[in-house]
Amino acid sequence: MKDTYILAIESSCDETSVSIVKNGRDEIATVVLSQMDTHANFGGVVPEVASRMHIENITMVLEECLNKASITTDEVDAIAVTYGPGLIGSLLIGVQAAKTLAYLYNKPLVPVHHIAGHIYANNLVKPLEFPLIALVVSGGHTDLIYMKEDYSFERIGGTLDDAVGEAYDKVARVVGLNYPGGPLVDKKAHEGKPTYHLPLPLNDDSYDFSFSGIKSAVINLVHNEKQRGNEINVENLCASFQNSVVEILTKKTMRALKEYNVKNLIVAGGVAANKGLREKLTELCASENVNLIVPSMKYCTDNAAMIGAAGYYAYKLGRTANLDLNAKASDSLK
Ligand code: KG4
Ligand code: ZN
Repeated sequence: MKDTYILAIESSCDETSVSIVKNGRDEIATVVLSQMDTHANFGGVVPEVASRMHIENITMVLEECLNKASITTDEVDAIAVTYGPGLIGSLLIGVQAAKTLAYLYNKPLVPVHHIAGHIYANNLVKPLEFPLIALVVSGGHTDLIYMKEDYSFERIGGTLDDAVGEAYDKVARVVGLNYPGGPLVDKKAHEGKPTYHLPLPLNDDSYDFSFSGIKSAVINLVHNEKQRGNEINVENLCASFQNSVVEILTKKTMRALKEYNVKNLIVAGGVAANKGLREKLTELCASENVNLIVPSMKYCTDNAAMIGAAGYYAYKLGRTANLDLNAKASDSLK
């Protein structure tokens, strides 16, 4: 069978990335240009700055990727792009670049949902096995997805407010840790004990999550202690926060696996790097005989290879778009 090459573009947040992926499984070349150092000066991603930097960098990243892959745009079969969800100004740059390439080289244009990309990042490591449950946890997303076969997505739950990574970053800021604070909170959590009482957020029978309440609880606790002139034990507070978050994430995920009778669990997104979450899921999946897959960090954070992997399956299913494709800041995964 003839090989299928996808040229993929990802620009939904603060990474400008282009990749060439063969048959949805082989990453030929990927370039990721992260803007994290710039945004760290502001304590978080500044949308206008992100959009401007995507404009400045996209052609350079594209050229470098094509050179690395030793391929020309003429030789690829289709152009895949993240059309949403994400920061609208950032998405628009990738979508415009993809449409321009599709028009110039007369190639099919394949819109890819960002979460489908995060899930298919795993396909670059090992072919997905179905049915599966995917827990997507990042700075912008917290979703539980059931997949019975390729490119079939049923969102069974997700956050009603803040994404889990966002809550980590806000907690980090209030206890004086730098952006992005998730990894630092994780590290401190391992040096402390969960001595502070924090609520277990949205501890109910749904598969939804809510992290704004626990984030506010941490902020209030810090302010109250400061007003009383008491010192905060940062390690213990991080441990208490992480304990509650990991407990609720793992509890609902394990229940979903049971209820949907699924033995494959994928964890994706930047928060998949969290040591507490990995440890707890490893332990629970071992006792429940669930096959747990957590990809390496380079596939957990935003990159275009994951869009190329998902884009291959979308392309094979004929899920292409016209040149009037628009970026969407929010959209459900279908
Ligand atoms: O997937 P990602 O790179 O970008 C988004 O699409 O959001 O995820 C970044 C998020 C940030 O909020 C960061 O603080 C969080 O992932 N993160 C972590 C850890 N490593 C990264 N959160 C908790 N523990 C970690 N070890
Ligand atoms: Zn992402």
